[in-house]
Amino acid sequence: MEPKTKLQTSPEEAGRIRRAVQNVRKIDGGNGSSRLVEPRHAGEILELLKDERVSGDVYTLPRPFSITSITDWIEDHQAQARAGTGLLLYARHEDGKIMSITDFQFWPKWSACEFGGVIAHTHQNQSLGTVGVKAMCDFAFETIGVQLIALTTSLDNVRSQKS
Ligand SMILES: CC(C)(COP(=O)(O)OP(=O)(O)OC[C@H]1O[C@@H](n2cnc3c(N)ncnc32)[C@H](O)[C@@H]1OP(=O)(O)O)[C@@H](O)C(=O)NCCC(=O)NCCS
Repeated sequence: MEPKTKLQTSPEEAGRIRRAVQNVRKIDGGNGSSRLVEPRHAGEILELLKDERVSGDVYTLPRPFSITSITDWIEDHQAQARAGTGLLLYARHEDGKIMSITDFQFWPKWSACEFGGVIAHTHQNQSLGTVGVKAMCDFAFETIGVQLIALTTSLDNVRSQKS
């Protein structure tokens, strides 16, 4: 969702943010490394998102879930990454399974971004969300250089609001 506060940004700053997003290959910190999602991950992500305990509260996901809808979603994010306006990232647990997905939307012209994500049910309520949100804020402010982060949750998603 677009930020309510729209900071006026110079074309130079917007260009710098766009290039910083285009250069991202992975994010280190927090809960290990997050890497760019590719179409070959669609099957694993479908399995993760089919679990409503994971996806139920998240309004930005490509419903209804299928290999096709998820592959389209991934390819759309690959185009956003090339344009410097979005990133879709995954992190793997040491057991080999994808344990989290993070979806960034950037508005370079407003020096702003939003991100949201999901954590596999077996890894929820273990502070991964709290640690991950801090790492993603550090990444957005320090590596990308935005001045504003917008976050959206449903009113009853207390865990998300707290983390
Ligand atoms: C929301 C989500 C990212 C939070 O991550 P998490 O690792 O499970 O949460 P944490 O363990 O870091 O806990 C976050 C906070 O919520 C609190 N909390 C946990 N369960 C709670 C509950 N049922 N009611 C109220 N607070 C709760 C924790 O105590 C913690 O607060 P604290 O730091 O003040 O102690 C994760 O649960 C998830 O992926 N949920 C499903 C998808 C989703 O809702 N995504 C967010 C969309 S905006």
